Amino acid sequence: MRGAPRTSAVAAVAAVAALALAACGSNGGEPESGGSGSGGADEVEVFTWWAAGSEKAGLDALVKVFDEQHPDVTFVNGAVAGGAGSQAKDLLQTRLQAQDPPDTFQAHAGAELQDYIDAAQIEPVSDLYDEFGLTDAFPPDLVDRLKADDGEIYSIPSNIHRANVVWTNRQVLTDAGLDPDATYPDLSSWMDDLAKLKDAGVTPLAIAQAWTQVQLLETVLLSDLGAEGYSGLWDGSTDWSGPEVKAALEDFETLMGYTNTDRDGLDWPESQQLVIDGKAGFTVMGDWAEASYVEQKQELGTDYSAYAVPGTDGVFDFLADSFTLPVGAPHPGGAKAWLETVGSAEGQEAFNKAKGSIPARTDIDMSTFGEYQQSAAEAFKSDTIVSSLAHGAAVPVAISTAITDATSKFTSGASDLATFQSELAAAVAG
Ligand code: GAL
Repeated sequence: MRGAPRTSAVAAVAAVAALALAACGSNGGEPESGGSGSGGADEVEVFTWWAAGSEKAGLDALVKVFDEQHPDVTFVNGAVAGGAGSQAKDLLQTRLQAQDPPDTFQAHAGAELQDYIDAAQIEPVSDLYDEFGLTDAFPPDLVDRLKADDGEIYSIPSNIHRANVVWTNRQVLTDAGLDPDATYPDLSSWMDDLAKLKDAGVTPLAIAQAWTQVQLLETVLLSDLGAEGYSGLWDGSTDWSGPEVKAALEDFETLMGYTNTDRDGLDWPESQQLVIDGKAGFTVMGDWAEASYVEQKQELGTDYSAYAVPGTDGVFDFLADSFTLPVGAPHPGGAKAWLETVGSAEGQEAFNKAKGSIPARTDIDMSTFGEYQQSAAEAFKSDTIVSSLAHGAAVPVAISTAITDATSKFTSGASDLATFQSELAAAVAG
């Protein structure tokens, strides 16, 4: 990663102390219970935004393995509702700044993790990779995204998700006279069918609050600019003010015209439900959506289809959740136990089966996973990988916040396309 300062001396001392305390246990590998503030391993507060529905089911599956692997450590659920951390991230910042960190928190691999590293809010966990035998368990590219310039690794990944996926209701498409097996080579052919759905009186494309609109925007940019052009948006080689981006923003505007008008009041499970309940034909959502289909006993290929957003086939818009060891965590021993479960083969298998994602570990047998996940695992191996904007992989939080603000302004009608484009360019320029 770029621009990471060395961890502060205070953080480094805290890390050594934490690991020393965590290592001094005698109860079957668990550190002694020390209680709050003393490096105890009697409990662990795990901060995520997996608070409800299929996301909670994923967390629950991980907790079940944790309870088996670490029966002496009490799991304390610090989940804060709101998809993509829309509420959790602000609250986490407040807690970190007030020196009141949870014992471990969810953070995306990539630029977002770098924010926490730069602010000296998380400890290196490289030693745990050796201790838990994780060094060769993950793809090297992924480990690079968890690393800082000092060569240290700062979190343990739990999964890999894909953001550029279209999900359909096959019956809705059939009823409107569309071919439910159609996949579309580009956005314009897809828009032709969205128009037909609109004429049939069905919401063509279900969407929710701002972050889901940003996620739609990133997939449109990816579709229109291609993988190289899209990645160039983040390294400066693609001109945000140019005609290609303008054309993509026009496509985004057209697509937004096919979405449900109550979108700003919904979160992703509700917009997903519009599709599952037959009130909308399509949605664009990350593959955590797969878990909600499975939870509701929907059959891939019968009830729904899932495929890359038109024009993005062969590109995997990537994000990975990972877990950290915050500076000053009250129970670093408990955090270490949690991190061990997160990185373990059992933990990754149970969690990812329930979450819709694929394991970050490369040594998990995928044959017992669902059909969608097997195809995602294949795609991750062969596709071109790009970094998700809406999910912390491509840009730091400050930039994604500015992009989200500009997007909301545009989609709520408070700015025109030219203003939107210049605000996006300014957001990325910093
Ligand atoms: C992402 C996260 C996923 C899923 C999604 C929707 O940011 O990485 O695991 O939780 O938000 O909430």
